[in-house]
Amino acid sequence: MKLLDGKEVSSKVKEDITREAAELTKQLGRKPHLVAILVGNDGGSETYVASKMRNCEQVGFESTNIRYDADVTEEELLKKIAEINGDPNIDGLIVQLPLPKHIDPEKVTEAIDYKKDVDGFHPINLGRMQRNLPCFIPATPYGIMLMLEHYGIDTAGKKAVIVGRSNIVGSPMSILLARNSNPGNCTVTLTHSRTKNLKEEVLQGDIVVAAIGKKNFVTADMVKDGAIVIDVGINRENSSETKSGFKLYGDVDFENVAQKASWITPVPGGVGLMTIVGLLKNTLEAAKGTVYPK
Ligand code: GUN
Repeated sequence: MKLLDGKEVSSKVKEDITREAAELTKQLGRKPHLVAILVGNDGGSETYVASKMRNCEQVGFESTNIRYDADVTEEELLKKIAEINGDPNIDGLIVQLPLPKHIDPEKVTEAIDYKKDVDGFHPINLGRMQRNLPCFIPATPYGIMLMLEHYGIDTAGKKAVIVGRSNIVGSPMSILLARNSNPGNCTVTLTHSRTKNLKEEVLQGDIVVAAIGKKNFVTADMVKDGAIVIDVGINRENSSETKSGFKLYGDVDFENVAQKASWITPVPGGVGLMTIVGLLKNTLEAAKGTVYPK
């Protein structure tokens, strides 16, 4: 078993981004700038946004975190998004999900200018991704593809089984792995809550992507010998053992699945770090105008 090491890959890519950001800052006369909107006080979302902001600073980007109480109106949020859309000094805008129930996430996603949509959630970016056109690719799937690329993992002709069909990970991942590209060119099965004989489906996978949000959901008896196992899960549980007061668990029973896998991502230290890298790369591309000319 070899480790798909998010620490190793993310620090290398972040070095490249830092170099490019410095160059671009000279050209533009300002740093690449990401704005993240956070609504409410969800513990996970607070941690993720803080980490996104910290990573922006590390690579030489400007970052702004706009916070709203959970009772902010949809109207007020949409007004702020429109304001940011029109600000030429802001390159990327993300609204952290999930949102409170009274706010429609689809409306919010579509309100973001697709040219600043560095989360890659806007239907224009998703459609362009499916067609293999320049676009912003959702950060987690983008990070996973960068990881596969870094380790030279050949995906062509392999059978990929994805567990979970979320808009953020499973669904875009299924498109990317099926595309006529590299990495890509897999035969993809997208499994979900209505899938029958899930174990038999997952056992077919040369590549297994677990993105279901349930601790230790993928067990050793579901994985074939030599499979490449990508664990997207970040399941938080309270713990007295750690300084932060919680411990992270993946969707994969790492200890036992690692005995069968040829490659596997750890949690923490795997896909989570690559998600940040995907977002940073999108933000840099937004500032450079490489995806959509300014
Ligand atoms: N919630 C969980 N993952 C993400 C992400 O990648 N972007 C946003 N905006 N919200 C999330």
